[in-house]
Amino acid sequence: MKDKEKGKDKNKDKIKKRINELTDEINYHNYRYYVLDEPVISDYEFDMLLKELLSLERLYPEFIREDSPSKRVGDLPSEKFARITHHIPMLSLDNTYSAGDVIEFDKKVKRFLEFPGGTDIEYICERKFDGLAIELIYKDGILTSGSTRGDGVTGEDVTMNLKTVRSVPLRLLKPVSYLEVRGEVLMDKESFKRLNEDRIRKNLPLFANPRNAASGSIRQLDPKITASRNLIMYCYGIGDYPVELKFRTQFEIMENLRSFGFKIDDSKMIKVVKNIDGALKFFEEISANRESFPVEIDGIVITVNDIALQQKLGELSKSPRWAAAYKFSAKQATTVIEDIIVSVGRTGVLTPVSILEPVNIGGVEVKRATLHNQDEINKKDINVGDRVLVERAGDVIPEVVKVVSKGKHAGYFYLPDKCPCCGSEVVIDGANYRCMNELSCPCQIKASIVHFASKRAMDIEGLGEKIVDKLVENTLIKDVGDIYYLKKEDLEKLEGFGRKSADNLINSIEKSKNISYDRFVYALGIRHVGEHIASLLISYFKDINGIKNADLDDLISKFQIGEEIGKSIYNFFRLKTNLNVIEKLFEAGVSPKGAADLSKVSYLIAGKRFLFTGGLNGFTRDDAENLVKEKGGIAEKTVKKNLDYVVTGKYPGSKYEKAVKLGLKIINEDEFKSLILQK
Ligand code: IVH
Repeated sequence: MKDKEKGKDKNKDKIKKRINELTDEINYHNYRYYVLDEPVISDYEFDMLLKELLSLERLYPEFIREDSPSKRVGDLPSEKFARITHHIPMLSLDNTYSAGDVIEFDKKVKRFLEFPGGTDIEYICERKFDGLAIELIYKDGILTSGSTRGDGVTGEDVTMNLKTVRSVPLRLLKPVSYLEVRGEVLMDKESFKRLNEDRIRKNLPLFANPRNAASGSIRQLDPKITASRNLIMYCYGIGDYPVELKFRTQFEIMENLRSFGFKIDDSKMIKVVKNIDGALKFFEEISANRESFPVEIDGIVITVNDIALQQKLGELSKSPRWAAAYKFSAKQATTVIEDIIVSVGRTGVLTPVSILEPVNIGGVEVKRATLHNQDEINKKDINVGDRVLVERAGDVIPEVVKVVSKGKHAGYFYLPDKCPCCGSEVVIDGANYRCMNELSCPCQIKASIVHFASKRAMDIEGLGEKIVDKLVENTLIKDVGDIYYLKKEDLEKLEGFGRKSADNLINSIEKSKNISYDRFVYALGIRHVGEHIASLLISYFKDINGIKNADLDDLISKFQIGEEIGKSIYNFFRLKTNLNVIEKLFEAGVSPKGAADLSKVSYLIAGKRFLFTGGLNGFTRDDAENLVKEKGGIAEKTVKKNLDYVVTGKYPGSKYEKAVKLGLKIINEDEFKSLILQK
């Protein structure tokens, strides 16, 4: 072989090795993030690893592994789904709706097993997820197929789409020759809400609930769409498995699934109970906390824990005798629309809201429900006086599903052509009717202040809708900048404020001054800039000045945000009013974390390049990097020759080895601490 070719081969070996390393590392971090909820690296570091892998794979597709995380990005769209027949049918569960039914189920189990009266059966209780049932098949530890439940016998082959779900392991953490795993694919309530908000903006039909959204997302012909949908998969059972795997109880199955790398429900949500009374108690606990769960559940599943007993009990054609669902009563109810009011949001969009004859749905009194927009009203033909079906899905605002019977009101309901808040012209903008008086419509101002102060933005506790209304109406604030000039004395004069509540609000306003930079950008309420885009903006442009000075091309091409979003950001920073408000905020002492503050700069750190590898004890990785940045240093993500310090914590990774090879200065956490604490 010629020297040149030998060199090329060697290089290829190195690349293959690197692709292998990156595949393992990224899969591990995916698992930490999506299954364990305990990331050990920052999103940015993760993105950098993925970027490196994708670029190597593009050049050397022959080295792409079957379990490569790039397969999660989404393959090419398919024409339609192939059918997959389940080796073992995917059964359904018998539904029960009352404690009486559940006790009857327990009695039946005992009768069938011929257990004497008075003996107890041990059950395992779990939350019943309201999503889409899925089966995954692993051969030699690698995910080879994934299908929907379908009719229980045959389902659809949605392998490509399931590979985009981050909590689905592409490779098992332990070697197993063959395994069929079953679980539920879900969309969390927050993602569902955002997806629908986005669909309103794009004038697309809305999903009725998170389950439909999950099902629609998994049954997409284009896996890229699935990849963008933030789905989760919780596993709860197995189909076929090799004889060498032995399980005594259902609980053991769950624990094994966890150790194979699957996302299993939180251990606090899985309970082994001594008898059926324990199951009833579990149901009460879960019911009481249901609203606070980030995902939708529709009841609990009660399963005989002992596998030998399960086998004795066997199955009926559609459902096993050894398990039952205890479901919550319906989350829908019918009532009458008494009125339709129109609210004006932060971006001027008019939203029709129905005022309902109060109705109790699943323990909560519902008095209003959103009608979304004019198109939805037209499509569902909704008017005042109609009897309607209302659905409440978790934390999501209740919505009118359909008209059950028309009321006496003739004609149709139309959104007004003048803003109900300020009287300005309303303009039709896609599916939205929008008040264009962006700068002085009181409703828009109030809503943008509420957004600014909200939990995920500046997190100013106590500055909610009611207080903002009062402050704006009493002309104490006109924009978000004024928040920081509020005085305790002014607040104390307001109705409903005491000394203590005024004190609390002033304190939480003060605390918000040091919020992180991405949240600050999100809080500004730039149209189309959600949390994700805000943090992207900050990671690329570092601070407000960076974003402000970026030209339109920079914004659009640099991180591919699309023209509409790019223009919206660009235009925001061209409006004098917005710049004045930002200046007012900074003058008041708002100083978001993540940007260099000259007063904090240390000569030991300034201009020095740091890289962290491994877990630190006293800081999170983000905190350590922010400290470096605060003091004027640079936090790097990859090992380069020009690094000044490589800080190593517990279990440092391949970066450490690279740093040693390059002869870089390596320090431990204590040394870093003393360096960073010196002035
Ligand atoms: S165990 C024989 N556990 O509920 C089926 N199912 O109504 C044993 N489901 O098709 C299923 N969460 O899709 C089980 N924690 C859970 C579940 C669960 C949701 C779904 C599953 C099943 C349906 C039956």
